Amino acid sequence: MTNNRTNISNSKERLSLQVKDIGKDTTTIRSLDWDRSRFDIEFGLRNGTTYNSFLIKGEKTALIDTSHLKFESSWIELLSEKVHPNDIDYLIVSHTEPDHSGLIAKLLEINPEIKVFASKVAIKFLENQIHQDFNSKSIKSGDEINLGTNPESRIIHRIEFISAPNLHWPDTIFSYDHGSGILFTCDAFGLHYCSEETFDINAEAIKEDFRFYYDCLMGPNARSVIQAIKRIDNLPQINTIAVGHGPLLKYHLNGWVNNYREWSTAKSKGENYAAICYISQYGFCDRLSQAIAHGIGKTSAQAQLIDLQATDPQELTALIGEANAVIVPTWPSEPQMELKNGIGTLIAALKQKQWIGIYDAFGGNDEPIDVVVNKLNTLGQKEAFKPLRVRQIPDSNTYQYFEEAGTDVGQLLNRKQNIATTKSLDADLNKAIGRVSGGLYVVTASQKDGLKQRSSAMIASWVSQASFEPPGLTVSVAKDRAIEALMQVGDRFVINILQEDNYLHLFRHFLKRFPPGADRFSGVSVLEDIAKGGPVLTDALAFLDCIVKQRLETPDHWIIYAVVENGNVANKQAKTAVHHRRVGSTY
Ligand SMILES: Cc1cc2nc3c(=O)[nH]c(=O)nc-3n(C[C@H](O)[C@H](O)[C@H](O)COP(=O)(O)O)c2cc1C
Repeated sequence: MTNNRTNISNSKERLSLQVKDIGKDTTTIRSLDWDRSRFDIEFGLRNGTTYNSFLIKGEKTALIDTSHLKFESSWIELLSEKVHPNDIDYLIVSHTEPDHSGLIAKLLEINPEIKVFASKVAIKFLENQIHQDFNSKSIKSGDEINLGTNPESRIIHRIEFISAPNLHWPDTIFSYDHGSGILFTCDAFGLHYCSEETFDINAEAIKEDFRFYYDCLMGPNARSVIQAIKRIDNLPQINTIAVGHGPLLKYHLNGWVNNYREWSTAKSKGENYAAICYISQYGFCDRLSQAIAHGIGKTSAQAQLIDLQATDPQELTALIGEANAVIVPTWPSEPQMELKNGIGTLIAALKQKQWIGIYDAFGGNDEPIDVVVNKLNTLGQKEAFKPLRVRQIPDSNTYQYFEEAGTDVGQLLNRKQNIATTKSLDADLNKAIGRVSGGLYVVTASQKDGLKQRSSAMIASWVSQASFEPPGLTVSVAKDRAIEALMQVGDRFVINILQEDNYLHLFRHFLKRFPPGADRFSGVSVLEDIAKGGPVLTDALAFLDCIVKQRLETPDHWIIYAVVENGNVANKQAKTAVHHRRVGSTY
């Protein structure tokens, strides 16, 4: 049974709801947020998102998660058609991020008798979030609740809990229903993809979003992903992974889980890691720390996100002590006890040889960033990046700035390893590959986020035509390039073709080492609004306005296939600048 409701909001946003039975005595209520913008870092592919909640009816009735506050009236109304809130016995809270927990307070107002099951940390967070007393029980891996037998199906719904800390919140818990074989994982295995399709029938359509979401939210906790997968491997047959965002996973289940396994195993290789500390539910700390982690994840260094108020002191000491770089947010000037202890433990665990970076959590009542810098720099550690200052509510430019800072840290940590890889090529082979040559281009991209614009550029020579009809080409973009973030499927960019006898000034300019967040076009003459994808350089010989259609992954580059929609030549007599090189181990 599917029941769809559309246009439930008076605002400009398109919001709708979907109810569907997804398994034995189990129903999903999906809140479809069609236009959720790419403002937040992980919404890269602009396909909106969904917030999924679930009802399980045994003898007792349990609800898993709620929805975003923006669905307030309609969600409760629809839920009430399936079960009156007064008849809900248990609420299982997979984690306390507001897009899933936004309506808990409302629900408990209607029925204060509901018993809330969540991890210990989640219950603490909830107490701060909803400011009212509620019945609760903290749960951990191996704990169970039995909903009893559904009177019609005669199936017993025994729910087992599996701790999955850091996926991607510190308080995450999975739930497995032994009666239906459904595993509820909330953020893990999810994707931001909004469609009426409840399940993953069309894997091709969603695989890019699935990967992008993993890279942004799960990759920085690859080790925790592996731990969680080991735990779910021990469960009996899983027939559906009921995720909290996007389509539920049923038709390609093993493929998705194996993707997580492979990607996380690859990311956990090597010893070098940056510990990125954050304070959950404080200011913009979660999102900003994720942007740094995502930037590090673009390199082959590892990121480890650490919640300063929820991590056990012993674990915190070990994680900080062994890290090669430690990234720390500003903290409240009057922190609560747990956080105060966390900060104390962090400072005590720092080591002299570490790189250190401080970022503004933009929490409202923070210690000034320079005070935090002075407190942490007592051992004379090396600065990983200049303190990341945030002067207004973070927007997509801020996230880009933080991501680029993260990539710089990753590159610092991997410097030695990269040099070794380059040297390992056989000399003759290296010279032979060096005979592959290309033209010289500047790839530019810019995107609007409301009134703001974010942009980037890079020198490229690995550009090649790849199709006649439609006219298409490929560009190989190193995984840790800043511009890579603006070259996702559906994004536009411009290839500026450089002119043989007039390119050196552009070449030198764009090869400068730009600090995170720098305006790469400052001092360069550009023609705006000629191409949709980005600035056209006034001195370019020609430009091609492209749209990304596919991305193919190689070990160190993304091969971006794009269709050329528009283009023009400025100087019909001139020739393209050609790039000859000696070896294949550099561009
Ligand atoms: C001649 C030449 C050709 C290059 N071609 C490419 C390329 O095709 N793909 C790429 O990812 N980087 C290429 N690079 C490297 C980047 O242009 C350069 O390192 C980049 O601008 C630094 O930007 P980032 O801060 O985003 O890493 C090339 C560099 C040179 C000198």
